[in-house]
Amino acid sequence: MQKIILDTDIGDDIDDALALAFAIMSGKIDVLGVTTVFKNTDQRAELACCLLEALGQTAIPVYAGIGKPLLQSIPDWEQVAASHRPRQIEVLKQQQPSIQPKPGRAVDFIIDTVMAGDGDITLVPIGPFTNIAAAFTLEPRLAQKTKICMMGGAINRAHSEEWNACCDPEATRVVFGTGVPITMVGLDVTMKCVMGYEQVKALGVVDRPINRICFELIHLWGGDNPEPRPTLHDPLAVATLIDPTFCETREMRIEVETRAGHPRGATVPMAGEPNTSVCVAVDATRFMDYFVKTLTT
Ligand code: BDR
Ligand code: CA
Repeated sequence: MQKIILDTDIGDDIDDALALAFAIMSGKIDVLGVTTVFKNTDQRAELACCLLEALGQTAIPVYAGIGKPLLQSIPDWEQVAASHRPRQIEVLKQQQPSIQPKPGRAVDFIIDTVMAGDGDITLVPIGPFTNIAAAFTLEPRLAQKTKICMMGGAINRAHSEEWNACCDPEATRVVFGTGVPITMVGLDVTMKCVMGYEQVKALGVVDRPINRICFELIHLWGGDNPEPRPTLHDPLAVATLIDPTFCETREMRIEVETRAGHPRGATVPMAGEPNTSVCVAVDATRFMDYFVKTLTT
């Protein structure tokens, strides 16, 4: 079992909820805790509790994290926030969860858990990188005790505005500067993982709370589209931990653009000592088959 802490902006794009369900239902991932990041992290933490209830995993602790980017100015931040997707709370609240987010801070939980571990805990950020950057800033020794498998960034310039990397460019820069081993599952590969609607329907056919919830959330996220087709960005980050052969990786030096007037948050390959295993190709069909099988059996 791979031990992870999942750091998520669950509640906007649908793939965070799918990633959490996938990690737990895989039976191959030991989720030590869920931490939330970006904007209303308390509400996101409530959502995570509801989902864990549906998954029968009420022992997994959930902590709300940092809501505001480290430095990005409020006007920039509001602009980013304006593109938020519909709330998922109505559907998940039907779960009437027996658990609540823990009173402590996400960053403290990350530091304490990793530092108390044997070096075998992977941080899996699937939202903006504010919590992770704050944790490494407060406790630089994390770099010797953990590794990161992130959903974020892209090396293809056409995708330079990746959500997680751009919502908090300074945090993204801090993370790539830590020296911690990083696997970057970016838009270069995740954009190839768009579910077919037949696959969405397959999730909904199974008569279990978690399947009903995933099906309903996907449609809520899809809005007016009667046949929504989520892109499995965040589940692919989880999948690369379960089976590294889903993606082909290349060692690269990644620097993060933070200058005004440039695409802030862009993850740029540069000459120099590699700091990242960048996913450059994906066996999307095999991954998505595995994903659907995991959520339906
Ligand atoms: C990332 O941004 C969010 O919309 C998704 O959940 C994913 O983490 C993709 O750019
Ligand atoms: Ca996400």
